[in-house]
Amino acid sequence: MSANGTTASLIDYERGTIAREIFSSEKIFQEELETIFTRAWLYVGHESQIPQPGDFFMSRMGQEQVIVARDKRSKVHVFLNSCRHRGMRLCSADHGNTSLFTCPYHSWSFTTDGKLFGVPQFKNLYEGCLDRAEWSLVEVAQMEIYKGTIWATWDPNAPPLETYLGDAKLHLDMTLDCRDGREGGSEVLLGVQKWIIPCNWKIAAENFLGDSYHNPSHRSVDLIGIGPSAEYGVKGRRDNELDAAQHLWISFPQGHGVHSAQMPAETSDPETYQNNTVVAEYFREANRLRKERLGTEANRLLPFVGTLYPNTSFHGRQPRNICVWHPQGPEQTEAWRFFLVDADAPQEVKDFLRSYYMRYSGPAGMTEQDDMENWNSATAASRGVIARRYPYNYQQSLGRSTRNGPTPGNTALQMSEENARQYYRRWSDYLSGATWDTLLGMKD
Ligand code: FES
Ligand SMILES: [Fe+2]
Repeated sequence: MSANGTTASLIDYERGTIAREIFSSEKIFQEELETIFTRAWLYVGHESQIPQPGDFFMSRMGQEQVIVARDKRSKVHVFLNSCRHRGMRLCSADHGNTSLFTCPYHSWSFTTDGKLFGVPQFKNLYEGCLDRAEWSLVEVAQMEIYKGTIWATWDPNAPPLETYLGDAKLHLDMTLDCRDGREGGSEVLLGVQKWIIPCNWKIAAENFLGDSYHNPSHRSVDLIGIGPSAEYGVKGRRDNELDAAQHLWISFPQGHGVHSAQMPAETSDPETYQNNTVVAEYFREANRLRKERLGTEANRLLPFVGTLYPNTSFHGRQPRNICVWHPQGPEQTEAWRFFLVDADAPQEVKDFLRSYYMRYSGPAGMTEQDDMENWNSATAASRGVIARRYPYNYQQSLGRSTRNGPTPGNTALQMSEENARQYYRRWSDYLSGATWDTLLGMKD
């Protein structure tokens, strides 16, 4: 905690400095769980993981496990995975299909819409004492489905999801809305990849806000050439579309941030797609359809990377995925990657993407290992008594963003840490219990 006792003073938005202790303090971590993860909209999964009535999978909101279930009328629910009797973990399966969740401890059972159903020896022991209607599972205050993605918040006063996403929604659309097909057009490929990282959850979230400055740490990937372009005979990881584009670092009032890129107006077919394999042809067509579906605003934008406040990141360009940085402790994060493919893509394309995704990211992926090495080592070298006296520097391109960029948001046309500055500004607002008007940037 800072000298004057407020977490807000740990963030100097104007000067661009942030105290190291926000990445290691147990006290601050507990405050985050109370003030951020009980209020913000959190991504909990994808509809394609629970297509049938009775399907469920286990997700997380902050440190707590939640069950995402489709009830027998096909409605999706998000419940705390804790029995109402003595709090036992109700379900220990990662995913499955059921008509009832039965507690392993004393066998109370709950329907897939959360109602208390079975109570052993009800007549003898509980008749007249227990009103089953009062003891349903604890359910989130609000749940919304957006283009196949499932979001939830514990705050009944949180604004609708689309208001919360604001103008960052366009960039999420670029990731989700690639092709016609079933709702959302995407499905989660294979299972969710999960692994533990010994660093604070914000370090990972911040990296995806648009920290392009760290790209030299991925030089090994450049050298061996595992990018999709390598498959088409284009050298290394070079991406011709991105080389030609104007890069944009955009921050949003809600705390979200993206690194995007805009193609020059005269661009025709990107070189990457000029090979005539089934896979190349598929991507060319998907690219055309995406532009058609998303309209002129998105027409020249390339889907890229971003973080939606607080801990949902996305990678719109291959490997197309959503990554959630679950807080586990001040210096421990559980990372979950949901890899996306177009639901109606040919099997050949899905197979190609599966092997590419696994080489690129996830715990065994080349770029993921580069990133984890950075985050873990920065954590270890920052926790010492002396190290903690010195703030981190976030002054890159300070004061060089504009609200008159080519797309909505506060935009820098060169690498910038404005996205991170804005993210931590909102972070301190959450910790000081600000109203939703402030959290949405309506008072900036
Ligand atoms: S704790 Fe679940 S039935 Fe007792
Ligand atoms: Fe990286």
